[in-house]
Amino acid sequence: MKKVIFALVCAFALCGCEKKVALAETSAQNQKFVKESKESKSENPNPEVEKLRRVFAKMTDRCKEAIPNGNPEEFLADLHKVLEEENNAHRSDDLDLLYLIDKKHNIGSDYVPKNLKPVKNNDLWNVSRNDLSLRPESYAALEELSRAALADGIKLMVSSTYRSYKYQEGLFNRYVKQDGLELAERYSARPGTSQHQLGMAIDFGSITDDWGDTKMGKWVYQHAAEHGWSLSFPQGYEDVTGYMWECWHFRYIGVEACHFQKKWFSDVQQFMLEFVAAWKQTD
Ligand code: DAL
Ligand code: ZN
Repeated sequence: MKKVIFALVCAFALCGCEKKVALAETSAQNQKFVKESKESKSENPNPEVEKLRRVFAKMTDRCKEAIPNGNPEEFLADLHKVLEEENNAHRSDDLDLLYLIDKKHNIGSDYVPKNLKPVKNNDLWNVSRNDLSLRPESYAALEELSRAALADGIKLMVSSTYRSYKYQEGLFNRYVKQDGLELAERYSARPGTSQHQLGMAIDFGSITDDWGDTKMGKWVYQHAAEHGWSLSFPQGYEDVTGYMWECWHFRYIGVEACHFQKKWFSDVQQFMLEFVAAWKQTD
């Protein structure tokens, strides 16, 4: 039976207790919840629990299914840590750290991150080309990640970072010529929809599947989240992210956001970013 998430919030609103409740319930139970929660609305002391219900209502079934049982107030406390971290990190007068860009959210041809910092070979990492750059927040986070990797005897290889709209356009068109539109769209973003245009994403190593089995690939997979880097296109979620698995592509989202994503969204960045975007758009 199709699972839905609202029961979590409703059950919590109704009983007002601390115990964990099911986030995913049957649709019949959910209907009951929606009806009862209307009646009991005034009993709920926390308006954010009500807002949570409204936001969950906008999420896809696939996302709702990914969310585990839990306490809405604990969820909200974790969410606020994420939003606070995002606020504190926001020094460069640029887009939010958790800005949603994907196949359905095109940022357009004019957007260029402010204060891009060149990423060159240095003591901390190697680069595979000389025209790389990142937003200051992700540059600093790359420094931190690289220091941790070096401490474990690994020097990271950075292969792709910020890409302009024009660059992505050339890349995408080249792949379409090479593999046809249908296949190209499964691994390359149309211009305006790539996380690389945000200056917050990095492709590491060889940009091939076997990189995931190298010492460097395994280390990054295991430790990235400790330093705020999140795997954007995990295995088994092409229907969610729109892209095949990319073991080499990580986006900087912050340590709290990585934790939040793992705890509440089955470690799927797309679900978490969609939720945060919906939260910000909901009154
Ligand atoms: N390869 C990823 C999806 C990109 O082109 O941004
Ligand atoms: Zn990439």
